[in-house]
Amino acid sequence: MSMRRIYLDHAATTPTDPRVVDAMLPYFGDIYGNSHSAHSFGQRAEVAVEDARETMARVLHCKPSEIIFTSGGSESDNLALRGAGWTRKRMDGRDHLITSPVEHSAIIRTVEQMAEMMGFSETILPVAADGMIDPEEFAGAITSHTALASLMYANNEVGTINPIPPLAALAHEHGVLFHTDAVQAGGQVSLDVDALGVDMLSLSAHKFYGPKGVGALFVREGIDLVPSQSGGSHEEGRRAGTLNTPGIVGMAKALELAYDEHEARLEHYRMMRDMLIDGVLERVPGAQLTGHRTQRLPSHASFVFEGVESNMLLVHLDLKGIAASSGSACKTGNPEPSGVLLAMGYAPLLALGSLRMTVGMQTTEDDIEYTINALVESVEKVRALV
Ligand SMILES: Cc1ncc(COP(=O)(O)O)c(C=O)c1O
Repeated sequence: MSMRRIYLDHAATTPTDPRVVDAMLPYFGDIYGNSHSAHSFGQRAEVAVEDARETMARVLHCKPSEIIFTSGGSESDNLALRGAGWTRKRMDGRDHLITSPVEHSAIIRTVEQMAEMMGFSETILPVAADGMIDPEEFAGAITSHTALASLMYANNEVGTINPIPPLAALAHEHGVLFHTDAVQAGGQVSLDVDALGVDMLSLSAHKFYGPKGVGALFVREGIDLVPSQSGGSHEEGRRAGTLNTPGIVGMAKALELAYDEHEARLEHYRMMRDMLIDGVLERVPGAQLTGHRTQRLPSHASFVFEGVESNMLLVHLDLKGIAASSGSACKTGNPEPSGVLLAMGYAPLLALGSLRMTVGMQTTEDDIEYTINALVESVEKVRALV
């Protein structure tokens, strides 16, 4: 009998929805033209790309021209920071960047590089014990030199959702551009850019049942971006490179499905997530929930376990067929605690025992029960090893 396999790592990536695959297939076949070519082959691809842009604009409540297609969340983040940062520095001399310590490395490393090599200064805001950004701390960090703030919509490790509208409003009061990394939020919470009040927002298709290697950056009309990837005049000169027609078609289909089926999906995620959280907290001794109790992504359950090294725990769970993840990186056998948890004030030893389990459309009650039982056993075994 084959081993039971349970995928609880939807924050890492989701399976591509078969309806999305169907929508993409013609663009690997007959409709192979380059959307930039003027002939009829190119025109057919261009129609598909522009239809996809309109579909995405409907979900984001923006103009199609405000969407730039990219190769994923990392590129969207890079383009937002470098593109808008460079423009502001050149146009009005503003060279200060604000971000938080719990951002994805696509933001953290980019801000670091801009500060170390490109003459920007940076402020990394503190976060609360639940990972949330405090608007007052943000207000206190803004100066007359601040060009751009980038604060994430929802955290990838602990699922905490930030209060984006007041944060964006604060930025605007001081003439600061506001970007949010919505890569984890996409498909789960509202992406209405007007209600959010953001200037730029990053998305990645593979987090909402779309294909990998394709993403988007919303950029509000009137904001100039220096292309961080230079070359041809694609995407109105804002991002060079032949467009990934099948990927873009798939991303738009996936986003449309996510919001057409929003209520049913969220109800399912919340039910599975809460069953998992309640079961783990009740049955695993020394388990603590990480992240905000209620302001968290519907799919997201994350914990720390006292006296457990989570990379060992992941191996034990994998042997039982369960795919989960931890925030700690394991380099040359020396585990390093998650920077996100350290920034939230967790002691390094406790932070080494982090576990993230993220549910999806296919997760069943049976899967959750099996996982809780497996976790009770595995935590006990890993603790006995120390
Ligand atoms: C919050 C966040 N931002 C950015 C990214 C990078 O996205 P991509 O994998 O599409 O480059 C991820 C991926 O995990 C993420 O969770």
